[in-house]
Amino acid sequence: MWLGIDIGTGGSRALLVNRAGEVVAAHTVAHEDMEMAAPLWAEQRPDNWWDAAVEAIRGVLARAGVTGDAVQGIGLSGQMHGLVLLDAENRVIRPALIWCDQRSQAQVDWVNRTVGKARVLECIANPVLTGFTLPKLLWVRDNEPALYERVRKVLLPKDYVRFRLTGEFATEVSDASGTALFDVVNRRWSYDLADAVGVDRAVLPACFESSEITGTVTAEVASLTGLRAGTPVAGGGGDQAASAVGNGIVSPGIVSCTLGTSGVVFAHMEEVAYDAAGRVHTFCHAVKGKWHVMGVTQGAGLSLQWFRNQLAPGVEYDALMDEASTAPAGSHGLYWLPYLMGERTPHLDALARGGWVGLTAKHRRAELIRSLIEGVSYSQKDCLDIVESLGVPVASVRASGGGAKSPFWRQLLADVFARPVVTLASQEGSALGAALLAMVGTGEYASVPEVCGAVIREAARVEPGAENTAVYARGHRVFQSLYPALQPVFPDM
Ligand code: XUL
Repeated sequence: MWLGIDIGTGGSRALLVNRAGEVVAAHTVAHEDMEMAAPLWAEQRPDNWWDAAVEAIRGVLARAGVTGDAVQGIGLSGQMHGLVLLDAENRVIRPALIWCDQRSQAQVDWVNRTVGKARVLECIANPVLTGFTLPKLLWVRDNEPALYERVRKVLLPKDYVRFRLTGEFATEVSDASGTALFDVVNRRWSYDLADAVGVDRAVLPACFESSEITGTVTAEVASLTGLRAGTPVAGGGGDQAASAVGNGIVSPGIVSCTLGTSGVVFAHMEEVAYDAAGRVHTFCHAVKGKWHVMGVTQGAGLSLQWFRNQLAPGVEYDALMDEASTAPAGSHGLYWLPYLMGERTPHLDALARGGWVGLTAKHRRAELIRSLIEGVSYSQKDCLDIVESLGVPVASVRASGGGAKSPFWRQLLADVFARPVVTLASQEGSALGAALLAMVGTGEYASVPEVCGAVIREAARVEPGAENTAVYARGHRVFQSLYPALQPVFPDM
């Protein structure tokens, strides 16, 4: 068996798969809530991730009724872009600034002024964004110099768990890509950029391809978790790349759309290509020598969650979907802008604000809900269009995440995308992807595409309907005209 461990935001999940890639057992342990001491700040305690991971490992072994001797390899996946700082004694210096922490705009501006935007793009194939790791590190340098002085290692969230498991300081290419310190084209740290911003090269961990073995479980951890000492630990992946492996997005032509809190359109790339405007992220894939591109809608499932919490408390999501289905396609000209947490793709605008445009006295709650789902889907179509404009072929879209559980939303997505939308037999995503990477790392399969080809199965497929596809093609054009019209007033809001 192989073990996948995903260090998410809400919790850590451990999952065991057998040789056929079937899930034998899984166990999730919740994390403490993230600490938001100020608007736009978000922190978590790395030791809380470790404790949760240990409990998840013990839990999954117990559920499967096996000992650690049954586990042949381990893969890690995790929330990306976080900043874990260790001192000379390998102690955590301060809580981690996590992926959604947006406090570092001044540091982003400083990097752009000091290094130049064009040079940054040459070094890392992406712009520096507030969510990425480097500006968070610079924030600590600027605001907590006494703590910064003590920094000896900088790790990503799952790589802190790797350090605790194996004693090794290591990462892998897909997660390293989201640090803004990684030369994505050449798959190695960008020492040019590190030197230009004054970050000591020695703080960066060793970097591997995602399916390579990075170390083995220590004897101390073996007695703590029930794992066998010496069990190999593969690189794994950032949660989006690992989830793409779990969804089989490992060759050209298939694109995924993951509707979680955020919505992510993800495509495999054989050759590296990037958007000069930086509207989508170009990162290394967890497939050796390949890349991926992804576009992110910040407020996807979040839009529906916000609606339910504020305007329909206690109503089940299924009931909201049923209600939405009583409204016509296009919601009688009502549009939802999903910019509840600013936006990444295509607008890269932390100040963008959400809301409805086009309300009339005729509109019912059904149109409010349907327009919200349409608005999120239009935003995901924006992501898909940019991905396609980079020359990535899109034959069909694999939908996953909470939103994709709804047949209504899946059909709507097929109509907005004008593409077939497919769902898979297993919805496990990143923890499964991490386990599959471990299968490759331990030699059970020769490559990531080979293991995905053997274990991932399509379960259902919806085709776009001609009538609604035409309605949504018009609607998408209107949707796209709303952000530029409103943008001038966002800063005043
Ligand atoms: C990816 C991203 C999120 C986090 C948390 O760019 O920000 O997927 O990794 O899940």
